[in-house]
Amino acid sequence: MNNPFSLKNKTILVTGASSGIGKSIAVESSKMGASLIITGRNEERLEETYRQLEGENHLKIVADMTKYEDIETIVQEIPQIDGFSNNAGITQVVLVKHIKQSILENILSTNTVAPILLTQLLIKNGKIRKNGSIVFTSSLSGNYCVHYGEGMYAASKGAISGFAKGAALDLSKSNIRVNSVCPGIINTNLFETNSVLTKEELEEKQKYFPLKRFGQPEDVAYAVIYFLSDASSWVTGADLKIDGGYTLL
Ligand SMILES: NC(=O)c1ccc[n+]([C@@H]2O[C@H](COP(=O)([O-])OP(=O)(O)OC[C@H]3O[C@@H](n4cnc5c(N)ncnc54)[C@H](OP(=O)(O)O)[C@@H]3O)[C@@H](O)[C@H]2O)c1
Repeated sequence: MNNPFSLKNKTILVTGASSGIGKSIAVESSKMGASLIITGRNEERLEETYRQLEGENHLKIVADMTKYEDIETIVQEIPQIDGFSNNAGITQVVLVKHIKQSILENILSTNTVAPILLTQLLIKNGKIRKNGSIVFTSSLSGNYCVHYGEGMYAASKGAISGFAKGAALDLSKSNIRVNSVCPGIINTNLFETNSVLTKEELEEKQKYFPLKRFGQPEDVAYAVIYFLSDASSWVTGADLKIDGGYTLL
């Protein structure tokens, strides 16, 4: 049976695949038939993701996205790909008066500079096939709303959403599509580590979501799969809010 959402015969690169949303994108994409190239910094957790991938012909590369030589290594080591989930990211909650250059540089370098440079190198080296698809994991923050202390993170994500639109236009000539997803609060390590709320406050906060819960990594992964698949072959330059209705209120 023809399934336009299938990723069969597609090779997909996922950054930040050692944890959270990226891990789910990788595992769920493998279930849809893709061959995966997964990257992350933590070798042990990357291996854990690798072991959970279904099917064969997967590759894992340990790489720190803030190091240009690691970005070059990824591009050198991978074959041509059909899809690219630009997902690695960090945050740090810091009020404006406490912002430091070192923290700002780390957030921008990981969330904005690295994904742009990796995209540039992949394109320059012809590593993304015609009809390929690039998906950025952006955020509600910086595009639709923001929480206290998220200014630097919002700046990094607003910038990457802007880049995604520019790249969508530039790469349309090669029929390479570029889209982004903008998740709200997703239950991952990133959210747990940076949350300033108590367990009780978190329970309470979920009630404010029209759909009454925080997101799970799979909620984002399924949307990314749509963008990576042929089902979205006439969709480029889009950003999709995945937020349980949070921004409706
Ligand atoms: N969770 C949310 O509520 C939420 C909401 C909106 C958007 N997002 C975005 O979703 C993406 C994934 O976040 P997550 O929630 O899944 O967080 P996570 O569980 O902390 O995962 C982050 C991933 O990024 C990787 N990473 C971070 N810095 C890196 C670096 N310098 N080089 C290479 N890899 C690096 C991590 O690798 P290692 O662990 O191996 O270092 C890890 O695989 C991020 O872009 C985040 O901004 C998350």
